[in-house]
Amino acid sequence: MPDWLITGCSELLTLRGPIPRRGRALRELGIIRDGAILVRDDRIAAVGPRRRIERLRGARRAEKLNLDGRVVLPGFVDSHTHLIFPGSRAAEYEQRIAGATYEQIAKSGGGILSSVRKLRAASAADLKSQAHKHLRSFAAHGTTTLEAKTGYGLDFANELKTLEIMRELRLEQPLDIATTFMGGHVVPPEYRKRPNDYADLVARIWIPYVARTGLAQYCDVFCDRGAFNVRQAEHILAAGLVCGLTPRIHAEQLAHTGAARLAVKLRAASADHLEKINTADIKALAKSDVVCTLLPGCCFHHGIPHDAPARELIDAGAIVALATDFNPGTSPTVNMQMILSLACTQLRMTPAEAIVAATINPAFSLRRNQRTGSLEPGKIADIAIFDVADYREIPYYFGVNTCWMTIKRGAIIHPRQPI
Ligand code: NIG
Ligand code: FE
Repeated sequence: MPDWLITGCSELLTLRGPIPRRGRALRELGIIRDGAILVRDDRIAAVGPRRRIERLRGARRAEKLNLDGRVVLPGFVDSHTHLIFPGSRAAEYEQRIAGATYEQIAKSGGGILSSVRKLRAASAADLKSQAHKHLRSFAAHGTTTLEAKTGYGLDFANELKTLEIMRELRLEQPLDIATTFMGGHVVPPEYRKRPNDYADLVARIWIPYVARTGLAQYCDVFCDRGAFNVRQAEHILAAGLVCGLTPRIHAEQLAHTGAARLAVKLRAASADHLEKINTADIKALAKSDVVCTLLPGCCFHHGIPHDAPARELIDAGAIVALATDFNPGTSPTVNMQMILSLACTQLRMTPAEAIVAATINPAFSLRRNQRTGSLEPGKIADIAIFDVADYREIPYYFGVNTCWMTIKRGAIIHPRQPI
């Protein structure tokens, strides 16, 4: 492959700087105006002002890509998705608009359990082809790395079926996928009366097996009202830790349960949602290395005000990230640009904070910050190019896909046709 020289960037957001970013550092984008990037094979060979990069050996022979004043970012890192699921829950969406709540629908057997019933009945081939379609859409919106959780199988065979699909997807398409085992999503119907037995089964039998196979790197639990309590969540996540699966937690989404404090206690990579945290939680999270992953797509989709205290978390010094939470029940979007828009208007984050929270901080939460999340020499050439002249226009044009090109490991993956 010839080297590539990318020029004509009105703003090149390198995201170089401290990792992870907290407090004021969350606004550091490392912007180079009229910058250039030299890409060699799958890596970034050089980044800097155009005049300097153009003079480098290799730059003259390189294939040129002139961006005519567009904005360049590291590809988005979406650190929280439920990628594998069997179709939408559009009927529930309509029920909620008519007044039913997410928890009422779940109690009557809908919600997560309706996706579980359908996933168990679905063939792996069908689930995989749906996931391929979603992954193409992630790429088209500028995402180059994502995390994906199991949790719609909730029996051994179907959790493994999901993990195996993820393994195949890693080989069959270009995006990087970090896998999380989430047997602890909700209690399946077979164990409705024996939730402790189910938590014990996940902790003692499934987790050691999953860890041995190397099919997942992370373990997650939905620790909330209607799902698992703190004791059960700790049992599952501690078992994961012993086997080498790093904890992530769905924490304080529907009710305050103490899950955020559990994340701090277990030194989880990430505590996600956090809509119902209190001042003491904010202090504890801010002192820790737990990444606070906010998911504003959920409240938007449910039509409720977003109350995750992003400003308080940032001002207290917490590590904040943003993610889609792509799933059929609470956040059916693959579009990180829309998440940036929601972060700005609903969480009062600045566009710069939102971009840091969508790139280098989530890369840290996935322990991939050495490879991706910023545009620096030696890192993988994961690049998203936007058809705007000012980076603030990415969240500003809400609901519009301004992603003009996505490059993964030095190869153009969007648009898929040559332009
Ligand atoms: O992150 N809260 C738990 N899990 C998902 C929702 C999953 C679903 O409703 O299917 C979430 O919001
Ligand atoms: Fe989730």
